[in-house]
Amino acid sequence: MTRFRLAHLSDLHLPMDGLPLGPRGWLSKRGLSHLSWQLKRRKRHLGSVLKSMFADIAATAPGHIAVTGDITNTARPEEFQRSIDWLSQLGAPSDVTLVPGNHDALVTVAHDDGQGHWQQWMRGDGEDPSAFPFVRLRGRIALIGVNTAIATPVFRATGKIGDAQLSRLEKILANLGAQDLFRVILMHHPVTDGLQPGRKALIDRAEMQQVLKRAGAEMILHGHTHRASLTSVAGPKGPIAVIGVPSASGTARHVEHAARWHLYDIDADGANWQVQVSARRLAPDDKFHDIADYTLKIPSSRV
Ligand SMILES: [Fe+2]
Repeated sequence: MTRFRLAHLSDLHLPMDGLPLGPRGWLSKRGLSHLSWQLKRRKRHLGSVLKSMFADIAATAPGHIAVTGDITNTARPEEFQRSIDWLSQLGAPSDVTLVPGNHDALVTVAHDDGQGHWQQWMRGDGEDPSAFPFVRLRGRIALIGVNTAIATPVFRATGKIGDAQLSRLEKILANLGAQDLFRVILMHHPVTDGLQPGRKALIDRAEMQQVLKRAGAEMILHGHTHRASLTSVAGPKGPIAVIGVPSASGTARHVEHAARWHLYDIDADGANWQVQVSARRLAPDDKFHDIADYTLKIPSSRV
């Protein structure tokens, strides 16, 4: 197999300049989120950082780009409309795969006014392309989009996959594993325990961990925490790497929240997979630099 080059970024939290919140918005959960944006988050998430990251990603010519949610801040129809321009800058929808985050489901929005805008980025190759989990096959790489985004009460940012999605996911993973494909799961909330307090955690992560233990996956990519993390959950034959990236628009002021993206070069290596990981982080010079390189050796599901 020729090397497959996958880029991962998350939590874009696109700029909301010139988008005032109407009186009805202030009465919904959007009100608090908008206030938090105005008071602090608009200084921590910058469009200029995103532009710089997009250029840095493009310079490495990835074969595919994964975006794990929180594109918007308050899930307003205007934010979804604006996001199309940004997503289009990353690449063609067939080369960019998206899953939603909790901010993209902050309140319930009619499909056509909200996540319906992203159908081209969130559709699989199969017969039911709009249903989660969806699958996109690119050579021997299978990208599996799982939806953890749900509307929650104020001060909560929990996620949930739900029984219907979990049962479909188990069949999908088993089927793709039997074909000896490299299964990359994309989801916004981390599946690992302890990365988030209860009010921000994935509610049914224990059930998801059981699915992964039975059916397996080669790698899980997520966002949500706005911090970098490399953890694992149990698979049928050993640990499965679970990798999170900070927000793609974070300024360099606090190093742990500075914008960062990951490049994965995936190769078949005999009976195993070899994944070369490069972490690229924003520095105070407003440029992205390599800050970590490591190799993951992942056994094939057939071994
Ligand atoms: Fe999030």
